[in-house]
Amino acid sequence: MAKLIYSAIASLDGYTADEAGNFDWAAPDEEVHGFINDLERPVGTYLYGRRMYETMLGWETDPTLADQSPHMRDFAELWQAADKVVYSTTLPAASTARTRIERAFDPEAVRRIKTTAGRDITVGGPELVAHAFKAGLVDECHLFVTPIVVGGGKQSLPGNVRLELELLDDRRFGNGTVFLRYRTRSSRRS
Ligand SMILES: NC(=O)c1ccc[n+]([C@@H]2O[C@H](COP(=O)([O-])OP(=O)(O)OC[C@H]3O[C@@H](n4cnc5c(N)ncnc54)[C@H](OP(=O)(O)O)[C@@H]3O)[C@@H](O)[C@H]2O)c1
Repeated sequence: MAKLIYSAIASLDGYTADEAGNFDWAAPDEEVHGFINDLERPVGTYLYGRRMYETMLGWETDPTLADQSPHMRDFAELWQAADKVVYSTTLPAASTARTRIERAFDPEAVRRIKTTAGRDITVGGPELVAHAFKAGLVDECHLFVTPIVVGGGKQSLPGNVRLELELLDDRRFGNGTVFLRYRTRSSRRS
């Protein structure tokens, strides 16, 4: 059975974007990027909220991204090779290959993907992720905590879910980022 992994880069105070919507402070340096690439290499499917998809699709549509460094080229190739499912009520069509749009989040459909997929699945975008947590679908959280406090914005974890977690792995990087890999033990709405 494939795992469903929530993966996010967040500030120390738990935001993936600040109140102005900026997340340039979350951009990984070469060391972190290389680690992320290896972590994502086994992933076969990305589940995205529409906003997250819109920030990621440049990995296929903007060739200048891959040209910036070998790590960025590696990530662009990984990203393009994976399947994507984008959740949106408004997006008329996907602008990348291997991508399908779902108009609603159906937990049973995601359970079926987990049962049949040969490779792990990640879910990205805090609004979408809240649905996955509430349905008890998330098996692991991969959090990159960056050394910044932004004071508010888009919370990386949903507000009305209680989770008990087991730490499986951790890693610190030269730029002050810390990686935390947790397995979810149980989830329920608080
Ligand atoms: N820290 C980082 O490294 C990083 C990287 C990339 C992006 N970001 C930031 O992360 C944030 C993205 O998170 P977000 O919470 O705003 O957005 P999100 O979860 O990625 O996307 C929200 C959208 O997904 C769709 N959606 C969500 N739940 C749905 C459901 N049950 N059924 C159908 N569609 C559903 C809706 O699209 P429609 O409106 O089309 O219906 C909704 O507006 C942005 O602020 C972005 O700037 C941070």
